[in-house]
Amino acid sequence: MTIRILATSPLVGPYLQELGRDFPELVIAPFRSAEWRRAMAETEALAVSLTDPVTEADLDLAPGLKVLGTCSVGVNHLPLQACEARGIAVVNTPGVLTDATADLALAMLLNLTRRLADGEALARSGTWKGWSLDQIFGVGLEGKTCGILGSGPIGKAFARRVAMLGMRPVFWARTDRSPVDFGAGTAPRLPLDELLPSCAVLSIHCPLTGDTRNLLSADNLLRLPKGAFIINTARGGILDEPAAIRMLHQGTLGGVGLDVYEGEPEINKAWFTAPHSMLLPHLGSSTQETREAMAKLLCDGIRATLAGKLG
Ligand code: DGY
Repeated sequence: MTIRILATSPLVGPYLQELGRDFPELVIAPFRSAEWRRAMAETEALAVSLTDPVTEADLDLAPGLKVLGTCSVGVNHLPLQACEARGIAVVNTPGVLTDATADLALAMLLNLTRRLADGEALARSGTWKGWSLDQIFGVGLEGKTCGILGSGPIGKAFARRVAMLGMRPVFWARTDRSPVDFGAGTAPRLPLDELLPSCAVLSIHCPLTGDTRNLLSADNLLRLPKGAFIINTARGGILDEPAAIRMLHQGTLGGVGLDVYEGEPEINKAWFTAPHSMLLPHLGSSTQETREAMAKLLCDGIRATLAGKLG
């Protein structure tokens, strides 16, 4: 039996090629290219990334598909229900990008609150007149509350980081009220209406689902205290971006740091001139080590799932 692995990219590191050696055929073709569509007909394992929004119609092209793997922890771009209905196993890459993503969220938070971009611009401008008592004031974080949307591994890793800064992490939950053990202490879990008014910082670490879409709606954003900072390294669509931009112009938010966007890679152009905003191109897991670990985990998962299904 021909086992065809079809991937939309070579991934990082040697793992996909190793997987290809274990099975008779490996095809690498861009998502929905003519070659990809042709190869789908005989594909048992499909590897994609979060920029490949697989639909049920795509699955129709691959009647023999056994595994759909994504080189991401997020699975909001996959047709999960259709996969379940068709007995297609879904493999993703949880765990290995936890620290990289939490690190990036922390970097954005410190960049915004300490105004590193403003400071760097002044230092590079050649116009700096020297140290002064009131230059480029930032905002201190010690003793303040950090709201965290999402109590999974990345939310907990971010809690550990802000706890080291002397902040008080508090998690959001829709119904669960049990405290969260985040590995360096425990933190309460509150409903959004109780959480938001206390947050000097709000960091998003939950998946995009029907429950979390537009969770930070314009109305909910108004519950934040004046000057609050928002960081999003999770998914666009959770934060109402136009509302956040308006609040930055009004001075009611202290700053917004985004690594992800509704409709990315398009970025709402209004962000480009929004004050106190920091924009990154979805770099959360972008370290050599992490991307290799993601590729390895994905390929191991595909190999094990195929072995299980075929054995
Ligand atoms: C993921 O894996 O879902 C992340 O968004 C990648 O950075």
